[in-house]
Order: sequence, then structure tokens, then C-alpha cells
Amino acid sequence: MTDPVKVYVPRDAGALALGADKVAAEIAREAEARGLDIRLIRNGSRGLFFLEPMVEVATEDGRLAYGPVAPGDVASLFDAGFLSGGDHPLAQGETEEIPFLARQTRLTFARCGIIDPLDPADYEAHGGLKGLRNAVMMTPEEIVETMVTSGLRGRGGAGFPTGIKWKTVAEAKGEQKYIVCNADEGDSGTYSDRMIMEGDPFMLIEGMVIAGLATGATRGYVYTRSEYPHAIVTMRDAIAIARSHGFLGPDILGSGHAFDMEIRMGAGAYVCGEETSLLNSLEGKRGVVRAKPPLPAHEGFLGRPTVVNNVISLATVPAILDHGPEFFRDFGVGHSHGTIPIQIAGNVKNGGLFEIAFGLTLHELVDEIGGGTRSGRPVKAVQVGGPLGAYFPRALFDTIFDYEAYTAKNGLIGHAGIVVFDDSVDMLKQARFAMEFCAIESCGKCTPCRIGSVRGVEVVDRIAAGEDPDAQIALMTDLCQTMRFGSLCALGGFTPFPVLSAIEHFPDDFRPTPFAEAAE
Ligand SMILES: Cc1cc2nc3c(=O)[nH]c(=O)nc-3n(C[C@H](O)[C@H](O)[C@H](O)COP(=O)(O)O)c2cc1C
Ligand code: SF4
Repeated sequence: MTDPVKVYVPRDAGALALGADKVAAEIAREAEARGLDIRLIRNGSRGLFFLEPMVEVATEDGRLAYGPVAPGDVASLFDAGFLSGGDHPLAQGETEEIPFLARQTRLTFARCGIIDPLDPADYEAHGGLKGLRNAVMMTPEEIVETMVTSGLRGRGGAGFPTGIKWKTVAEAKGEQKYIVCNADEGDSGTYSDRMIMEGDPFMLIEGMVIAGLATGATRGYVYTRSEYPHAIVTMRDAIAIARSHGFLGPDILGSGHAFDMEIRMGAGAYVCGEETSLLNSLEGKRGVVRAKPPLPAHEGFLGRPTVVNNVISLATVPAILDHGPEFFRDFGVGHSHGTIPIQIAGNVKNGGLFEIAFGLTLHELVDEIGGGTRSGRPVKAVQVGGPLGAYFPRALFDTIFDYEAYTAKNGLIGHAGIVVFDDSVDMLKQARFAMEFCAIESCGKCTPCRIGSVRGVEVVDRIAAGEDPDAQIALMTDLCQTMRFGSLCALGGFTPFPVLSAIEHFPDDFRPTPFAEAAE
């Protein structure tokens, strides 16, 4: 008897939103009707969202992709013999050879979209648990040292060295310490955290357990948003499976070390992604930012030493412990080591997850990999780093993906999301949106942010009304200075980036032509 043909249909929220469940049901129905033996696997996404739902078939020639597949395409796929790689208008060839994927270097996303996310055997067969097996043989100091040497910087936005953070917690005094995974993922156009939680959840668990071994923490929390229902269910299931397989719980892989964790859900406030506000929310309090010091590493969750790390930071840890710190460190440029999962979104032809070593230019990302705009119109601006990131004009498309290069251009990498806009975008409206977003999301603790953002909206409205634009722009620049240097956290402190970059790089949009003049 021959083995059933493996057919992969993603269960990732992005694919589900595009009808993956219906496609999977149709494939199962059609196979049964034709008496064909298949094994349907609901994998994570490969991150090629422009091809989702992307169906893959395991053949003798490797995994072959078809996409984007609609339920109505399924019968014709069977007619074309797709189970053995038959040709079809939706055929994309060997998945690994699709240019968008072939150009990537996947360390963190090495398994995402390949394995069954909740099958521990599949996880191990693809390199899972190797990092943890190494870690349980090491001292906490050796694990911390490995992380310091790797040069990994936090992927949540601030780019702080992960090894140094762990060292601080390891050296802090406290009976109980915690690992908190920041999975709030509020930045516009970002989804890498969600993809990991849905597509390779054991890797995140493994990373958190290693963080626990390194710092002496025995409890962990993943804090995510209510808008991620699929990720929450997958993480809950993965935690239960990890416990039953002994890589979570009282005796990690027979090492005698304990670590357990759970997932907690926030209501989806942007500011609850800020680490101290997150800790308040996790403690059941209002999500208001705490003044620092004390650092969370000294007094974090319930006042105890706490590591707060982003999903991608923690999910990258197993690969570092597996391949060694130098292997990771050698990727990248300058002080930006390793690979970075860039999320290409907005008005772009080929949107998706693109993991690559630091150093790519915006031109490569937007024009070559992204394929330009989906609308076919010229690219006008790209916002890098979420709602607090700067807008880049084409003149700055030679900027390379590197923390310092972005800082030098008054921008930031943030969580590595890039959102593309075509020439129909009005940058004055975008500036207004930045201030309005800050006003809505402000936790209200400090005046420059709480009041400044409201005043900012009013100033933009006066510019739009043509009320002495020069004086208003000067006022806006002054207001941005106050917010930049007077705010307690980066929500108020970085909102000036999108506003000032819009004014600087797109001055024409801040000189609205009065109707009378335009008519002449
Ligand atoms: C307003 C605001 C929102 C933030 N949102 C997130 C978020 O959604 N996810 C995240 O990991 N970090 C977010 N951060 C950064 C966190 O405060 C913190 O730096 C990060 O979780 C540390 O993890 P890392 O060192 O692994 O990056 C945010 C910061 C600010 C100021
Ligand atoms: S900058 Fe805004 S969000 Fe941050 S502490 Fe101040 S009021 Fe709260």
C-alpha cells in the first residue's frame, strides 16, 4: 500500500482570511469523491501572502506550490493531476524555488509553513529542540554569554541587546523571576509574531524555556491581543503538548529544571505593547506606562526580576543555541547582527514575510522583492517601523536595513514592518493620522503626549485650511520637539518621526492649493 499524498493548506490567519478553510474542505471532499488517498496537513504560512491560500503537495521532486487557490479551482487542480505535480495555471513550481522565497535566509522562519505546527515529531525532525538540548547541558552563565556573543538585538522595536537584558535578570536578586513574551504586535503592517505563534509555536516555547534556564526564571507568560484568536488557540494547544512531551513543566527534558508558562490576552491597546504598560495589564491593572527606573529586569511582573522580550527575539534563541553564536553574528551589517523578518505590506504587489540578513536597501525591498505597488502607480512613500516610524521618499531608498542607518535618517526599524503607499496618498492626512493615533492610544500619563497629540491634530487641520501654513509648520516643529524630548515613553516621543518626515520630504502636501487658485 502506498502512503497517502501529503497536501498542505495553511491554517495561518492570513490564509484563513482568504478562504483556506473552504479550500481545505473542498480538497478533502474532492479527494474522497475521486477515491484518492491524501493526508491533509494544516501548516503555517510560508509568508507569500500574494499566493495565499497557497496549497502545497509533497512529490518526489519536493514540495510543489499552487496559488492563490480558490475553492472553485480545486476540481480543476485534481483534473490536472496536481497530486503528482500536474501543470495548472496556478502552478508555482517547487516552493523553495519561488523567487520571493529563494532569495531569503530563513533562520527564525526556517520551519514556518513547512511543518505541522502542533506535531512535536515533525518539529524535532526539522531541527526542533536542538537548541534546548544544548542549553540544558550548559550553565546559566554560558547561555547568557552565548546570547551576548550572538549580538541579537530585541526585535520588538528598541533593538536592545538580548544577552545584556538576560544578564541583568540573571544577576538580579529574587526568589521568583519571570519571562514575559511580548506578543502584542501592534505595529501597522506587522504579522511576524502572529505567524510564529500560528506556524511554529514550539520554537517560541523553546526560546522561553532557554531564557528561563539562563536567568533562573521558572514561569513565563505570553501576552498577546484579542485580535489574534487563532494564535491564542494554537499557543494554548502547543503549551499543553509541550508539557506532555516534557519540554515544559517540572523537569525540562529530564534536566531537573522547571519552567512553565501560559498565554494571556490583552484588549488590544497599542500602548500595552510598551513593556511596563504590558506588565501593568498582565497584573490586571490599567495599561499605563510605568516610569523607569526601576527597569523590568529589576522590578518587573509583580515587582520581580523579569525578562520582557518580543516573540521574534525569543523565537530566534533556539537557532542561536543550535548553530552557535558566531554563526548568527556573522550575518548582517555593523551592529545589526543576524537576520530580520521584514514584513512587506500596504499597497505592494508581493506582500509577505521576507527574512534576510540586515543590509538590504529599501529599493531592493520595495521595487525588486515587493514588485512595486499593487495599484501599478508610482511609489510615493514607505513608512518603516510602524505608526511611530518615519516616511521615506524615493530619494532615501538607498537606506540599508540597519538600526543605525535608520536612526541616522531620523527613522527607526521598529518591528521591521514596511508599509508602501502610492502617489495617491496625501501626506498631510498621514501626518494628521499620526497625531490622531497618538491622541487615541495615549495612556495619558504625561502631558506632552496626552495634550500635545490633540494640539497636533488641530495644527494639521489649520494647515489643511490654509491658515498661515508657515507659522503652523513652525508651531508643529516646536510641538514635536516638546513631544520628542518631554514624553515618558516612545509613543509620545516618536510620534514626531512620521509627522516631521512627512513635512520634510513631502512639503508640497503641506501647501494645499486654495480652491480659488486651483480654479484659475
Ligand atoms: C508604544 C509602544 C508600543 C510597543 N509595542 C510593542 C509590541 O507590540 N511588541 C513588542 O515586542 N514590543 C513593543 N514595544 C517595545 C517594548 O516596550 C519593549 O522594548 C520590547 O518588548 C522588548 O523586547 P525586545 O528587547 O525583545 O525587543 C513597544 C514600545 C512602545 C513605546
Ligand atoms: S508618552 Fe504617551 S503613552 Fe507614553 S507615558 Fe506619556 S502619555 Fe503615556
